[in-house]
Amino acid sequence: MGLLLFYPTPVFEKEDSMPEDFNQKLEKWIIDYSQTNEEAINWSKKFYGKGVTSYGSDQKLHEKESIFGELAKGLTPHVKEFLDSIKAVPPKEISCIDMWCTINKPASIHPRHIHPLSACSGTYYVNADPEMGNLNIHDPYDNRAMGAMFQPDSPLAYDTYSVNVKSRKVIMFPGWVSHSVQQNLSNKDRIGVSFNFRVFYDNENK
Ligand SMILES: [Fe+2]
Repeated sequence: MGLLLFYPTPVFEKEDSMPEDFNQKLEKWIIDYSQTNEEAINWSKKFYGKGVTSYGSDQKLHEKESIFGELAKGLTPHVKEFLDSIKAVPPKEISCIDMWCTINKPASIHPRHIHPLSACSGTYYVNADPEMGNLNIHDPYDNRAMGAMFQPDSPLAYDTYSVNVKSRKVIMFPGWVSHSVQQNLSNKDRIGVSFNFRVFYDNENK
């Protein structure tokens, strides 16, 4: 009886998700990396427009660098909380499978995409504020285009919702959620670490 609302798009945000001193250490590491790592610099020049990313050159920072291992470990309880909140069956293991850092310079923009096969993807923001570009979450029903008939506070009113970014905040969602990043309209660099987590169950499909 009454309203049945199917196919929600879950997005989880958590502020102060890592300690301030850790965040400062991480920011310094990423800036040094962006100035010295030739592989990331060259890959970014070719594919990444206005910015530097280890995506494409090194997506396994959590395995190779202890500071990213520490980040993956620190984020895992938040991933668990997110999965609990969407009533996922508690997995035997939650494991970070990809982690890479990004620096998005002024005027940069990141187009719409998904993260295939990831139970929980997202970004931990090292240095970010809304002027540097918020995260857009896109309507999976691209062809709906009927937002005009809904009141502004209806969850059906818009085909794109944005989530405010902030330093030390983590935003996460299942990998199927279509997202993009707004243009960096500030004169500062937006710095973040993106990730994919997978879940494992106690069966032969592990
Ligand atoms: Fe993404």
